Amino acid sequence: MNKQEIIAQGESVLLHTYNRFPMVLDHGDGMYLYETDGTKYLDFAAGIAVFAFGYNNKEYNDALKAQVDKLVHTSNLYYNEPSVHAAELFCKASGMERVFFTNSGAEAIEGALKLARKYYFNKHGVSDSNVIAMDHSFHGRTMGAVSVTGKQAYREPFEPLIGGVRFADFNNYDDVVSKVDAKTCAIIMETVQGEGGIYPADREFLQKIRKFCTANDIVLILDEIQCGMGRTGTMFAYQQYGIEPDILTSAKALGCGVPVGCFACKEAFAAMVPGDHGSTYGGNPLVCKAVETVFGLFEKTKLTDHVKEISGYLWDELEKVTADYEIVTAHRGLGLMQGLEFSVAAGPIVKETIANGCILISAGTNIIRFVPPLIVEKKHVDEMIGCLRKAIEKLLVNS
Ligand SMILES: Cc1ncc(COP(=O)(O)O)c(C=O)c1O
Repeated sequence: MNKQEIIAQGESVLLHTYNRFPMVLDHGDGMYLYETDGTKYLDFAAGIAVFAFGYNNKEYNDALKAQVDKLVHTSNLYYNEPSVHAAELFCKASGMERVFFTNSGAEAIEGALKLARKYYFNKHGVSDSNVIAMDHSFHGRTMGAVSVTGKQAYREPFEPLIGGVRFADFNNYDDVVSKVDAKTCAIIMETVQGEGGIYPADREFLQKIRKFCTANDIVLILDEIQCGMGRTGTMFAYQQYGIEPDILTSAKALGCGVPVGCFACKEAFAAMVPGDHGSTYGGNPLVCKAVETVFGLFEKTKLTDHVKEISGYLWDELEKVTADYEIVTAHRGLGLMQGLEFSVAAGPIVKETIANGCILISAGTNIIRFVPPLIVEKKHVDEMIGCLRKAIEKLLVNS
């Protein structure tokens, strides 16, 4: 099938939950993606903050190929070495003590919510606890994850969702605390809000929330599905805040392309027993070999040091763009998770930047987010900035 035929066929068989760009991606290499017809793109989206090491990393590919030939799946009724090793590496990197591997980020959120509720249930012997979540948050598309997602449009058509969720202003300590009562089992938030517009937690806010949760025995759940795994310059973003969560969720770059996520916790919060939770595929040998390899690559390449350095360059270049165009109204972020806010819709700018050969993605209606593979170099930043400036200038000429 040629490109147009694949697109037409896709439109007829795939459920229409995405407005897809008319691109048929075929293969990738490093920072670049290629369509079936050979069109080349610099990729500043990384499969939505997934491909930390870029495309076609030989060590990663070889490890997965070897595991395919050995054992792809067993079940969680038995042990397998990659899952034990991957869990050990995750604990070492995060400070957590117990891990449950899932098949996606949303499932990691489901597990984290269940774990917090079970912790409350064990403590109080009753199950009607509530959860405080943040406005403008995004935690995924399953029923539990949608229930704690702070965007009404994502929730409304699917109600009734799980009960007992209250929303508070992100970065507003008093508002969060005002929503808490004796039945609150958990406070959940992203350390850096992604989909909601690239808003990092304020240092003082997160530290005060941590203290409040400890003092009141409320579980603090940090969702680092997007901002974790090295993206902000440390393995996990909270490591820059001098705090730790009680429960942590991860996915995306955890497996760098294979479907794996996890929820992890401190021993004191490991409130589940056999029968409370499970997954057929979760943590199978193939995906855990990917997790193992990803941690090994982080160690070997010292990639977080590179992120710290290169993210400063990206910051400086985006500051220049902010200064040069009035339609850019704000620039914020942490590490290689940055965003530009526009006074106009971001969609047409993203579309034009793609036409110029660089893939960007939006976050909300008027924000462009920059979440490239972590191996990005200065020359790639320069190339992206060129494509972006050209797109903005075309928009200004035509408006
Ligand atoms: C912060 C955050 N949490 C949860 C999710 C859901 O992850 P998944 O799409 O793997 O279910 C996402 C996905 O974008 C996310 O950014």
